[in-house]
Amino acid sequence: MLLPLLLHLLLLPFFFFTPSYSTTTATIGVNYGTVADNLPPPTTVATFLRSQTTINRIKIFDTNPDILRAFAGTGISITVTVGNGDIPNLSKLPAAQSWVSTNILPFHPKTAINRIAVGNEILATSDKDLIAHTVPAMKALHQALTLANITTVQVSTPHSLGILTSSEPPSSGQFRPGYDKAIFAPMLDFLRQTKSPFLVNPYPFFGIDPNRPDSLNWALFKPNGGVLDSVTGLNYTNMFDAQMDAVFSAMKKLGYDDVELVVAETGWPSAGDPGQPGVGLDNAASYNGNLIRHVNSGQGTPLMPNRTFETFVFSLFNENLKPTISEQNYGLFKPDLKPVYDGGRKVKRHMLKTYHNILGCETVQAMGPTVAQGPSSSGSGVGGGSSSKKWCVPKTNASEKQLQANIDFACSSGIDCGPIKDGGPCFKPNTVRSHAAYAMNAYFQASGRHAFDCDFGNTGVIAYTDPSKCYQQNNFLKILCE
Ligand SMILES: *[C@@H]1O[C@H](CO)[C@@H](O)[C@H](O)[C@H]1NC(C)=O
Ligand SMILES: *[C@@H]1O[C@H](CO)[C@@H](O)[C@H](O)[C@H]1NC(C)=O
Ligand SMILES: *[C@@H]1O[C@H](CO)[C@@H](O)[C@H](O)[C@H]1NC(C)=O
Ligand SMILES: *[C@@H]1O[C@H](CO)[C@@H](O)[C@H](O)[C@H]1NC(C)=O
Ligand SMILES: *[C@@H]1O[C@H](CO)[C@@H](O)[C@H](O)[C@H]1NC(C)=O
Repeated sequence: MLLPLLLHLLLLPFFFFTPSYSTTTATIGVNYGTVADNLPPPTTVATFLRSQTTINRIKIFDTNPDILRAFAGTGISITVTVGNGDIPNLSKLPAAQSWVSTNILPFHPKTAINRIAVGNEILATSDKDLIAHTVPAMKALHQALTLANITTVQVSTPHSLGILTSSEPPSSGQFRPGYDKAIFAPMLDFLRQTKSPFLVNPYPFFGIDPNRPDSLNWALFKPNGGVLDSVTGLNYTNMFDAQMDAVFSAMKKLGYDDVELVVAETGWPSAGDPGQPGVGLDNAASYNGNLIRHVNSGQGTPLMPNRTFETFVFSLFNENLKPTISEQNYGLFKPDLKPVYDGGRKVKRHMLKTYHNILGCETVQAMGPTVAQGPSSSGSGVGGGSSSKKWCVPKTNASEKQLQANIDFACSSGIDCGPIKDGGPCFKPNTVRSHAAYAMNAYFQASGRHAFDCDFGNTGVIAYTDPSKCYQQNNFLKILCE
């Protein structure tokens, strides 16, 4: 009996007190790239994301009408992208109006398109015509939306970090000369006026230096010696912060440090060519998990303290038609919707943690069942088998008013109530009782599962069978979180 007990106690902290646990709503975006010939149909993808993950926004690299139709009514926000080649024409209002009529009006607002990316990494194309027309096209599209009475769709454009001429140390960050005044100042001015964010694609993966022993850990948010910015005296403990602060410094030099920053792409390949530095399952799992925790933590960066960053992981799927092995392997999921980092029951613990962060498994943990589903459950369990499976549920005679008060209390105490918000995996059934069952139980599990943690003014009761329909629906998460 002693061994199972020990195992159980060791597992508990992992299941309930992962560092991400205390974050309130972890918002997660993904880039839904489709350079592949084996992906599931968009309707399958939409249902999968809606019902099995906490991913609540996607970015696509075109305006694929099948995808836009498939996501109607899911509540998942969508960023669509204007092809680079279309930019010069779209700098004229009639063309922009026609583009909006074709690509936005048929879908909005049933499909929650909330942003248009005007091209992708346009400076990297070195195409002067394209670059010169980008801000005019952004303005024309914004005006076309306004004329169509659409006020909820932002217009912006994502950049690689190649827009910077200097990025080390972070405080030295500045835009490429010439482009700074001609392109970035007017672009940032437009973004400020329209309350839209500046979009950047930081990839610490590309910044790792095989000759610097600490650089991989620095890129992966793992323990390392830090990198000091001698100008500001600030110590950078991860490369992501350094890259974001370099962009921030460049914006600040032009006087636009008030414009919001959004991470439009970032990620890490889980496989690559033989000998390619940094690639691999463990590193990809660490990067994405640590990233999501970091951007949602409210910690911010040294130059942008206390900020959170809307972030889109690249990518939703492995894409088999990309040109190189590493580019084919940025996905969180395989085309059959199986997670890339999952090794079934033999999955390594820290990889599991990543999926907790990415998919919100911690909320499923908090719902109870996995207490008895670790390795220790194969034996007699703790204190004699099924007695270790405990849930907190509302008493049948508790009033809606009391239950609402319980939800408010539990959700303000640090547990993640994202799953019972509109669009969350446990929002349905949309009843106070169902939401209270979730919130009260999550609180009970997180607080240590004492009888008094389920009292709620005599409106809660401990149950010994799994009460949660939501949990049953989330079989996928159940498998992953075991
Ligand atoms: C741009 O507009 C011109 C003139 O209307 C048209 O001939 C051309 O095909 C358009 N280019 C694209 C890429 O749509
Ligand atoms: C936009 O709204 C205004 C005022 O409500 C209305 O007069 C106009 O017809 C609308 N335009 C379109 C394209 O719906
Ligand atoms: C920077 O932070 C790292 C990690 O916390 C620490 O090891 C290092 O001593 C710090 N360096 C300075 C100069 O404060
Ligand atoms: C960041 O948050 C901390 C803790 O709440 C607070 O002490 C600090 O003043 C905040 N800093 C800024 C720049 O808002
Ligand atoms: C619900 O029933 C319990 C007994 O099981 C009782 O103690 C409690 O006061 C009742 N609550 C309400 C609101 O009636």
